[in-house]
Amino acid sequence: MNISVGLTGIGSYVPDKAVTNEDLSRIVDTSNEWIVERTGIRERRIVDYYTSTSDIATKAALRALEDGNTSPEEIDMIIVATVTPDMSFPSTACIVQKSIRAVNAAAFDISVGCSGFVYGLSIGMSFIKAGVCRKVLVIGAETLSKIVDWQDRSTCILFGDGAGACILERCEEGYGILSQDLGSDGNGGNLLTLPAGGSKLPASYETVSNNLHTIKMDGREVFKFAVRVIEKTANDALEKAQLSLKDIDFFVPHQANLRIIQSAMKKLDLKQDKVYVNLDKYGNMSSASIPVALDEAYRKSMIKRGDVVLLVAFGAGLTWGSLVLKWNK
Ligand code: UT7
Repeated sequence: MNISVGLTGIGSYVPDKAVTNEDLSRIVDTSNEWIVERTGIRERRIVDYYTSTSDIATKAALRALEDGNTSPEEIDMIIVATVTPDMSFPSTACIVQKSIRAVNAAAFDISVGCSGFVYGLSIGMSFIKAGVCRKVLVIGAETLSKIVDWQDRSTCILFGDGAGACILERCEEGYGILSQDLGSDGNGGNLLTLPAGGSKLPASYETVSNNLHTIKMDGREVFKFAVRVIEKTANDALEKAQLSLKDIDFFVPHQANLRIIQSAMKKLDLKQDKVYVNLDKYGNMSSASIPVALDEAYRKSMIKRGDVVLLVAFGAGLTWGSLVLKWNK
């Protein structure tokens, strides 16, 4: 029997506090013009000192449960995609499980950089198709402001905080997730890292004084990788769904840089009205970028039932992932 799995609830949350490019130009040597021209970002949202990733993940999860008319006890599994967990362990997913009282759920985190939400959807779908789970809560949540080097102008301008969540379950046959393409290239792992705090470089006076607990990125190389991989993974996912570029009704790309999105639009021959962009407001929220964008587009009625929606993500690892959905809500 061919089981179809789709998104039946979706929600997101971003913190209230906005930090503008002007604000950043007061702490590092940059300007609004440079940031807008090179990235498309105008502002980003930032949590306060006391707010952690699980707090904003919980808010997004509750909104997804409400949207999906689902009670927490019905959730069998919680997957949190994040590179900014509350702590190494317990997992952020277990902390969210407690706060939303999803007492029947198995819970775990995945570390896939900005591709995490797409990987999470794919994992959740597989558990449902295998008959192991009925309802899976997938969350992408980040507080990147906590791991950004606020002295490094090449990275601190890029990132923001936010969370998005969805509920996956069986849906009408032929709808939901039609195909996926996931991949990794560990050879490029050194291009985007948070070097210290793990078993290789445990926290020490040296790691702190050398600022090794913050994001390090070779932006130019990651940019080239992104431009290359988007076209390939999108086409591979479409081929698996036996669809072509002209079948795409809506495109939700990872929100890292407007120039990367524009290059993808050109290569995939997609017009602006089919592409969702919100990085001007939020910057790059890593694993939260796609679910927040998807939630906003859905709530603005830019996606309707039956639309073919393409999600494409890329990020640390290096990793990438695409999903083709036939929107079932
Ligand atoms: O989520 C996945 C991970 N991240 C990404 O996808 C990011 C991918 N990369 C990028 O988006 C871009 O590479 C950046 C936005 C990070 C940088 O843009 P770029 O056009 O690649 O700039 P660049 O790194 O080649 O730097 C050009 C110049 C440099 O000065 P010199 O060496 O030419 O004198 C930088 O020092 O721009 C300088 N620069 C800045 N100037 C003003 C770098 N950051 C800034 C800044 N303000 N914030």
